[in-house]
Amino acid sequence: MARHDHPVFSRLYGLIARAEEGGPVGEARTRTAATLSGRTLIVGLGPGLDLEHLPDAVSEVVAVEPSAPMRAAARGRVAHFERHRPIVVLDAVAEDLPLADASVDSILFAYVLCSVDDPDLALREAARVLRPGGAVAVMEHVRATEGSWTRRAQRAVAPIWPRMAGGCRCDRDTRAALERAGFDTSQVSDEVLVNVPPVSPAIVGTARLRSLP
Ligand SMILES: C[S@@+](CC[C@H](N)C(=O)[O-])C[C@H]1O[C@@H](n2cnc3c(N)ncnc32)[C@H](O)[C@@H]1O
Repeated sequence: MARHDHPVFSRLYGLIARAEEGGPVGEARTRTAATLSGRTLIVGLGPGLDLEHLPDAVSEVVAVEPSAPMRAAARGRVAHFERHRPIVVLDAVAEDLPLADASVDSILFAYVLCSVDDPDLALREAARVLRPGGAVAVMEHVRATEGSWTRRAQRAVAPIWPRMAGGCRCDRDTRAALERAGFDTSQVSDEVLVNVPPVSPAIVGTARLRSLP
C-alpha cells in the first residue's frame, strides 16, 4: 500500500463529506469555488465533492490526488462531471506538480493544506503554476486562537490525529503559510463551518499573488 493511501479514512471521509454537503460546509464549497475560472487545478481531489460546486466559468479541470482509494472514490463523480468539461486526475502531490509554469488560471485547495507534507512547498508550487493574476480559492480548517478550548483540544490530539485522519494536521496556520508564499489573504475570512474540535475553525476565500514592487 502506498504512503498516501489510507483506505479506511478514505471511505469514512467520503461519507462525512457527503453528509456535510447540506450544511455550512457545502455552502462554503459553493462560495469558495465561485471565483474559479478557466483551466483549474484542484489539489487533493479526495472523493471529488468539489466537482459538484464548480461554476460554469471553469473550462477544464486538472486534479492531483496521490491516494489510490481517493481516486477510486472520485471516479463516479469524475465520470459524471466530465460531461460538462474535460477532467484529468493525476497521481501526483502538491509539492511536485507535473504542470508547466503559469499554466493554470485558478487553483482550489479544500481541506488539503492540512494533509500535505510541506504546505510551504505546496504553495510555492501553486504560485509557480498559476498564471499572473490567477486566483487561489481556499477552504481549510486551521489552528485555533491561542488560549481557546479548541486550541487546547488541538494540542491534546495533535500527536495521534494524523494517524486517525489520513495524515491531517489539525493545527496548521495556513493563512500564515499563504502569506509566506506571497499570497494576499485579505479576501480570506475566518469562519466556523463545523464547530467540532479539532477541525475548527476555518479560513474561506480567495487569495491572489501580491504583485512585485
Ligand atoms: C481531507 S481530504 C480532502 C479532499 C477534498 N479536497 C475535499 O475537500 O473533500 C485531503 C486530501 O488530500 C490528499 N493529499 C494528501 N497529501 C497530499 C499531497 N501531498 N498532495 C496532494 N494531495 C494530498 C489526500 O489523499 C486526500 O484526498
